[in-house]
Amino acid sequence: MAGPAPVYDVSCPAGATQAEKCQVGKDTYVGWRSFATHCVQCHGGSAMGSTFAPNLAERLKTRVDWLRFHYVMHHGYTGKVGAMPSFAKNNAVLKDMGPIYSYLLARADNALPPGRPVKKP
Ligand code: HEC
Repeated sequence: MAGPAPVYDVSCPAGATQAEKCQVGKDTYVGWRSFATHCVQCHGGSAMGSTFAPNLAERLKTRVDWLRFHYVMHHGYTGKVGAMPSFAKNNAVLKDMGPIYSYLLARADNALPPGRPVKKP
């Protein structure tokens, strides 16, 4: 079961254009870190996309909700851009699915600019 959709916790000063100026809650931070470990090589820095994998902030704005995200993590997905691998056997990713979604949602909502966020104390 996917459970309730994760939320994000982000505080940025007005007009911030870099995540380095922002503070994020534990889950959003763990999501950023996990994304940087497992997803960045295809989906690009700060989820902005690469030549062979899409910008995930855009996907969350348009077609990927929490249930779809959960499904794709387990089953993978081959679409027009290419092949998204299944992470069904990757416990490190499965454990961080909620935090990764929280981070991507903050990016999709433009609540968090690109870059490395600072963890709230
Ligand atoms: C080996 C490269 C690769 C890696 C690693 C990868 N992805 Fe993907 N992912 C893709 C490609 C390619 C697509 C685009 C599929 C399409 O739409 O054609 C994609 C699509 C997606 C989608 C959109 C699915 C949809 O229905 O539109 C999500 C969400 C996603 N990836 C999340 C992740 C997350 C989170 C990680 C890290 C845990 C990750 N991906 C790691 C290649 C990758």
